[in-house]
Amino acid sequence: MTIQWFPGHMAKARRQVTENLKLVDIVFELIDARLPMSSRNPMLDDIIHQKKRLLILNKADMADETQTKRWIQFFEEKGHKAVAVNSLDSKGLKRVTKAAEDVLAEKWDRMRKKGLKPRAIRAMIVGIPNVGKSTMINRLAKKNIARTGNMPGVTKSQQWIKVGKELELLDTPGILWPKFEDQRVGAKLAVTGAIKDAIMNMDDLAIFGLNFLETYYPQRLHERYQIEGLTDPIVGTFDHIGKLRNIKMSGGDIDYSMVSELIVRDIRNEHLGKLTFDFVEDYE
Ligand code: G4P
Repeated sequence: MTIQWFPGHMAKARRQVTENLKLVDIVFELIDARLPMSSRNPMLDDIIHQKKRLLILNKADMADETQTKRWIQFFEEKGHKAVAVNSLDSKGLKRVTKAAEDVLAEKWDRMRKKGLKPRAIRAMIVGIPNVGKSTMINRLAKKNIARTGNMPGVTKSQQWIKVGKELELLDTPGILWPKFEDQRVGAKLAVTGAIKDAIMNMDDLAIFGLNFLETYYPQRLHERYQIEGLTDPIVGTFDHIGKLRNIKMSGGDIDYSMVSELIVRDIRNEHLGKLTFDFVEDYE
């Protein structure tokens, strides 16, 4: 997906989310578990105001489990219910319904006390591109897409996905934009593959990745590339990895751009293990 970050696009995204907000009881804010801060848009608070929200840390299967647990605790201390899932695993998604029920428990109790019949919770998914919005919607949908033109305030084209008896999910997610202004955020989104566009060149990404790993996961660097810390200048580390993997040009010189690609690919494909790029300690 090509992402363009013009003010017009942002305004449109904001309008679309605001419009659909009226139809739902709760917003599912989908974030990348590897980037629980960098994959959020801080303006969402301003867009959804008091609407109830569930934070869903998706792609938890690729993230560092210890960090994921700490992030869930961090968000809950800030008053947001949070749940970690892997959208490729339909069974695990049951936790989403349960968590949504928890968030709305008080409101549903009040409705019951007023004698209103309990109904399915209506939700919409929002998140930046590539966090897994479509994957989650498709997994939850199975065959349960219901065209509902007869619901008050719902246009004919609006579709709700029935997830069991308890949940109805709007089939169109709200697309947010990442906060690119911060260079480090851009680098984290790019190095994990969360953003496919080439916002940084491969060499810079590889260097960013190596530095990050040296600070937060030095053992993984050692295990994968047999290095104890990075060289200064860093070209020495590139030489080492190039020789180790035999990445050479026809004349025998190290092919640095191929080494950069290898490092970034290794990070994205979990060859350096499950990684989280936002460390909770840096945000406390
Ligand atoms: P979006 O609608 O928010 O833009 O995201 P989308 O569902 O298209 O998902 C983006 C990529 O992330 C997809 O991979 C999808 O399979 C993958 N994905 C989504 N949820 C999960 C998850 O919980 N765990 C894992 N491991 N992957 C998930 P893709 O189309 O193959 O692209 P890519 O793999 O080249 O990034």
